[in-house]
Amino acid sequence: MMLLLKGAPVSKTIRESLKKDVEELKSRGVVPKLVAFAIQPDESSLEYMRGQEKSAEKLGIAYERLILKDADLKEAKRIILELNESRDVHGIIVMRPLPENVPEQELLALLSPRKDVEGVTLQNLGYLFHEAGGFSPCTAEAILRIADHYGVSFEGKNVVIVGRSITVGKPIAMMLLRKSRNATVTVCHTRTRDLKAHTKMADVLIVAVGRANMVGREHVKPGSVIFDVGINLTDSGITGDVNFDEVCELVDAITPVPGGISPVTTAVLMSRVVEIAKNAG
Ligand SMILES: NC(=O)c1ccc[n+]([C@@H]2O[C@H](COP(=O)([O-])OP(=O)(O)OC[C@H]3O[C@@H](n4cnc5c(N)ncnc54)[C@H](OP(=O)(O)O)[C@@H]3O)[C@@H](O)[C@H]2O)c1
Repeated sequence: MMLLLKGAPVSKTIRESLKKDVEELKSRGVVPKLVAFAIQPDESSLEYMRGQEKSAEKLGIAYERLILKDADLKEAKRIILELNESRDVHGIIVMRPLPENVPEQELLALLSPRKDVEGVTLQNLGYLFHEAGGFSPCTAEAILRIADHYGVSFEGKNVVIVGRSITVGKPIAMMLLRKSRNATVTVCHTRTRDLKAHTKMADVLIVAVGRANMVGREHVKPGSVIFDVGINLTDSGITGDVNFDEVCELVDAITPVPGGISPVTTAVLMSRVVEIAKNAG
């Protein structure tokens, strides 16, 4: 029987322990605080920030949206440096995509890795490669949390990842190559020849592309496990990158969309804010 790898029980466990930590911090006069800094945000960034705010509120984490109306690089740099220094601010998110004329690397280079809750600074990504701690990208971490919760092992498995973004595909590949996970990893992208030939070999398939239902029955090995990271807004609502109806009878386990990886990603993000506050307090 197919196992649905729902995110809710995983995020609930994380949130419950966070609530206790937040209460304890508040009793010591420390309020964990997350700031999202956006420059001329698009509608999807605004929506993402509204979601963050709701999750933070539920946990008693303070949340602030800082929005710069002009693509003023000098001012953006000043704001990031000020947030780095602020004792009241524990986590900082620099919302992406940034406007075209704002150089992402230049801004991220200023962001303190200790407050980089999304794990996107060069330092945190370097720590990830060196297995030296730091914050890894939240979505990659969320995949591991779900796998561990449901007892999905990667040991010796052929894991195929579709997508090579810096926030999902590349970091999860690195995390699964660790000796603690021991997967054999293949990463596919738009220039991969014969995608199906690769995905059909996958004991575990991770799809992070951003194209509704692009993975169908013909891509999937019977008895495999699928992590569907995609979030696509379609006429029939939110859907993943995997055609759930087509593959659900073939696979052993699959994350649903919505309700799979996203709630865990948010919980991981919040857990980092609290962790920083605990270490600072
Ligand atoms: N659930 C969550 O918490 C969460 C978090 C983050 C992202 N997401 C969702 O995950 C999806 C991916 O996000 P992202 O930020 O990783 O996206 P991204 O930066 O746009 O990267 C997409 C990747 O998919 C590859 N790709 C695109 N079309 C392909 C095709 N036809 N065949 C093979 N590979 C293809 C691209 O290849 P190239 O490199 O060759 O262009 C690229 O590496 C989106 O739907 C996003 O909304 C969900």
